[in-house]
Amino acid sequence: MSLKDQLNIQKLPKHIAVIMDGNGRWAKGKGKFRIFGHQNGVKAVKETAEACAEIGVQYLTLYAFSTENWSRPKDEVNALMELLVSTIRKETKTLMKNNIRLEAIGDINDLPAKCQRELGEAIDETKGNTRLTMILALSYSAKWDMINAIKHIALEAKEGKVAIENIDTAMVDKFLSTKDYPHPELMIRTSGEQRISNFLLWELAYSELYFTPKLWPDFNREDLYQAILDYQQRERRFGKTSEQLA
Ligand code: FPP
Repeated sequence: MSLKDQLNIQKLPKHIAVIMDGNGRWAKGKGKFRIFGHQNGVKAVKETAEACAEIGVQYLTLYAFSTENWSRPKDEVNALMELLVSTIRKETKTLMKNNIRLEAIGDINDLPAKCQRELGEAIDETKGNTRLTMILALSYSAKWDMINAIKHIALEAKEGKVAIENIDTAMVDKFLSTKDYPHPELMIRTSGEQRISNFLLWELAYSELYFTPKLWPDFNREDLYQAILDYQQRERRFGKTSEQLA
């Protein structure tokens, strides 16, 4: 039986988050520049998004550029921004064809104007699509998002709109850039690294984490099914005992 046929469609994660890691090492292994790895990473993005849409995953968040990535060599940052612009431009029709809505989280104002424009247009064009929401985390870090949320809540408290004793998890959720999405049940990181790297720190509190040695440009739909199958075999207890769950 194929991996896809083994999936329990009733038990799919609604939301999968991915740290797409290993592009640089993939390129280096082939004697190429790092950007060659990022370019080939786009293929894995396409395949993952299409596979998620096909099987019925509703949200896919991709860590495409972190706040910390701004400190990479200028050439690599520029090339990544160019790649983002050209990919969005080229692939908006694929998003439309696959009924995929594009969204973004992060400090979007920090992106080059061209990038913001292209992204804004694609978000607008795809906003009516309903099969899968693909969220690009761009100039994003969880600590940045949490600090913004803390500032907003502090301001509301200062203005007397919120009583300190009423601050709870639901309120924090409401002020994060991920407020419109359910928390991911599954987080996948490629390339063998086993870290969260400032990605969705709040939202991953009870997510299942899946690490694969595959480098991102080699990640394909079979790897996605494998990760979901692994997730489906786990017991999610949310702090309770197995007996309580039964
Ligand atoms: C991490 O690999 C990857 C990134 C920082 C960029 C990810 C970007 C893409 C996959 C392409 C653009 C995406 C979209 C959605 C259009 P790394 O460079 O840290 O690899 P390394 O750890 O091997 O050096």
